[in-house]
Amino acid sequence: MTDFWRGKRVFLTGNTGFKGSWLSLWLEQLGAEVTGFALPPPTDPSLFVLAGLDKSMAWIEGDVRDPAAVLAAVKKAQPEIVLHLAAQPLVRESYLDPIGTYATNVMGTVHLLDAVRHTPSVRAVVNVTTDKCYENQEWPWGYRENEPMGGYDPYSNSKGCSELVTSAFRRSYSLPLASARAGNVIGGGDFAKDRLIPDILRALEAGEKVKIRSPHAIRPWQHVLEPLSGYLTLAQQLYSDAPAFSEAWNFGPRDSDAKPVEWIVQRLNSLVEGSQGYEIDTNPQPHEAHYLKLDISKASSRLHWTPRWDLDQALQAIVEWSSRRAQGEPVRQICLDQVKRYASS
Ligand SMILES: NC(=O)c1ccc[n+]([C@@H]2O[C@H](COP(=O)([O-])OP(=O)(O)OC[C@H]3O[C@@H](n4cnc5c(N)ncnc54)[C@H](O)[C@@H]3O)[C@@H](O)[C@H]2O)c1
Repeated sequence: MTDFWRGKRVFLTGNTGFKGSWLSLWLEQLGAEVTGFALPPPTDPSLFVLAGLDKSMAWIEGDVRDPAAVLAAVKKAQPEIVLHLAAQPLVRESYLDPIGTYATNVMGTVHLLDAVRHTPSVRAVVNVTTDKCYENQEWPWGYRENEPMGGYDPYSNSKGCSELVTSAFRRSYSLPLASARAGNVIGGGDFAKDRLIPDILRALEAGEKVKIRSPHAIRPWQHVLEPLSGYLTLAQQLYSDAPAFSEAWNFGPRDSDAKPVEWIVQRLNSLVEGSQGYEIDTNPQPHEAHYLKLDISKASSRLHWTPRWDLDQALQAIVEWSSRRAQGEPVRQICLDQVKRYASS
C-alpha cells in the first residue's frame, strides 16, 4: 500500500470528522497529497483540531449541498482519487432533521459525482455509506452486497439512496466508482453525540453511570482503522482496474465481533478504572434495528481484505488512546503510532 499512495492527489470529503481525521493522518503518513472538503469539525473537542490537522492539512471549507462549491473544489484539486466521507452520520439527528440529512447524504453525493463526471483526472472514487443502507430483515445473518437497499430511519434510508445514486452514476457515466459499507466504527477521538463509546467515555470522565439504550441490539463493531484500510485497498484496486472493482463492498468485522451493546459497555468498563457502571435508559426511543451484521466474504476473497484487530484489541486501543491523551501526549502522535501498529499487524 505504501508506495502506491506517495504523491497521489486525493480529494477527501468529510476530512474534519472522526473517520476523516484518522484517514487524513494515515494518508499524510503514506505521502499522499490530500485536499479536504468539509464543514468545520462537527464536535468540540474534535480529533481534527486535537491532531493539529486544522493547521497542517490543505482543505477547503465547503458544503456538499452547494453544487458550484463542490465543482470548483474538485476542479481546483484535480484529484486522481476521491474518497467521499462527508455526511450527516447520526440516526437520532436524522429524526430531528430529515431534510438536512437527505440534502447532505443524497444530494451531496449527486453533487460530488456530477463534479467527478466533469473531471477527467479522477481514476477512482469510493463513496462511503454504511451497513444501515440494507433493508433490515431482523435476521441473524450478515447482509451481502447484492441484497436490497432500504433503511427504516432517515439516516439509514438516505445512505440507501446514496447507494442507488452511486449505482446510477456508475452505469450512466461509466465512472470508476465503488461504494463501501462499514460497520459501527469505534476508536479514540470520536466525540459525537449519542454514540456508545463517546457516551461511555464522557460518563467515565464525569464520574457518572452511562445511560444506554437498546442493550441487546447487536452491531458489527470495528476499530476505525479497519474500514479505512478497506477504503484504501478498494481505491487502489479501482485505480488499477476500475471495471473489475466498480461495485459495492462490505468492510465489517468478523462475525464473532458482532456483539450486543451491553457487552461492549461491560467490557470497556472492565478495562478502565473508576467506572460507575451503567443503567438502561427507559425513556421512549426512536426505532433502531435489533440485529445488524455484514457479510465480508466478497472483500476477503476478491480484495484480500480482512479485519486485523478483533473487538478486544479495538477496545484496548481506545483505552490506550484515552489514557495517553490524559497523560498529555500529543494526539497526533498517539494516532500515528496506532496507524503504524495497525498497518504492520
Ligand atoms: N462512525 C460510524 O460508526 C460510521 C459507520 C458507518 C458509516 N459511517 C459513515 O462514515 C462517514 C464519516 O462518518 P464520521 O463518523 O466520521 O462522521 P463525523 O460526523 O465525525 O464527520 C462528518 C464529516 O462530514 C462533514 N459534513 C457534514 N455535513 C456536510 C456538508 N453539508 N458539507 C460538507 N461536509 C459536511 C463534517 O464537517 C465532517 O467532516 C459518514 O459518511 C458516515 O455516514 C460512519
